[in-house]
Amino acid sequence: MAEPEDDRLFILGAGRVGTALAIALARAGAAPGLWTRSPASADRARRLTGRPCWQGALPEAVGQATRVIVAVSDPAAASLAGALLDGGLLRSAQVVLHCAGGRPAAEALPGLGPPLARGTFHPLLAIADPEDGARHLRGAAIALEGDEAARRAGAEVARRLGARPVELPAGGLLAYHTAAVLASNHAVALWAAALELLGLSGVPAAEQLPALLPLISSTMENLGALGVPAALTGPVRRGDAAQVAGALELLERAAPHLVPLYAAATSQALRLARALEDPALEPGLRRIEELLRSRA
Ligand SMILES: NC(=O)c1ccc[n+]([C@@H]2O[C@H](COP(=O)([O-])OP(=O)(O)OC[C@H]3O[C@@H](n4cnc5c(N)ncnc54)[C@H](OP(=O)(O)O)[C@@H]3O)[C@@H](O)[C@H]2O)c1
Repeated sequence: MAEPEDDRLFILGAGRVGTALAIALARAGAAPGLWTRSPASADRARRLTGRPCWQGALPEAVGQATRVIVAVSDPAAASLAGALLDGGLLRSAQVVLHCAGGRPAAEALPGLGPPLARGTFHPLLAIADPEDGARHLRGAAIALEGDEAARRAGAEVARRLGARPVELPAGGLLAYHTAAVLASNHAVALWAAALELLGLSGVPAAEQLPALLPLISSTMENLGALGVPAALTGPVRRGDAAQVAGALELLERAAPHLVPLYAAATSQALRLARALEDPALEPGLRRIEELLRSRA
């Protein structure tokens, strides 16, 4: 598919996200320009995309692009935007999109302003590898925030990737990003705690992760099929206060650093169990509540 005149994309930064976007856009028939700072990242990007990748000084070719996607690490974004302006490299650009989700584009790209539109373009994915990231972009949510023209351009790029554009107000970005951190980064922290407890239980080290993964994937399947609160299973879902008391006593004795995490997760599970509106559960849920209160 030929690139429409007003849709010339350039991606700055061939890290995990920039390269994943370049691979997926090339597969979707777009031909984004790509630049990165280091020779190693440029070599990897050329190998993975099968396309050119500029390296070193910002190339004149950026000046041809109408849409620029900034996919460098967060602290580098503002100075890179400044370098683009100082170098006169935004002469064709109408829109600059920024891939971080933690703060609005107006804060992340402070030097840019009208007539340029700036916006957030944040894939809601944990991208550890560009090739996997490119695969997962199809169907992923992409949060869009910022100037109207930037949100419109971001939505077009998202649709081109087969992703799901989701528009957010600037004021919603912090809650959105915190949700992403809880669902992904902190879920890893939670699983690490579970692995630690499997170690305490006597499951051999080599068996711990293989034992945990089917539990996690079946839980995610339940979540996809049933949503919340129906996907909740386990002692709180059953109102089993004796099991919760036993777990708390074990943790206090053998892994006291995990008590606050267990208590916080139990308290959230309690809210979900209450949302099931099952009167038969209430006595057990009240006892669990008392157990948590007595340790607060
Ligand atoms: N990874 C994720 O799961 C994920 C998900 C959604 C959004 N994001 C966002 O996407 C953006 C990129 O993240 P990433 O995970 O792709 O990071 P990354 O893999 O660490 O890549 C960072 C990129 O920034 C470049 N860079 C670093 N410092 C620079 C500087 N001073 N000047 C110019 N370029 C510089 C690096 O260039 P060289 O390698 O060439 O040195 C590299 O291309 C971030 O805003 C991040 O918040 C990440």
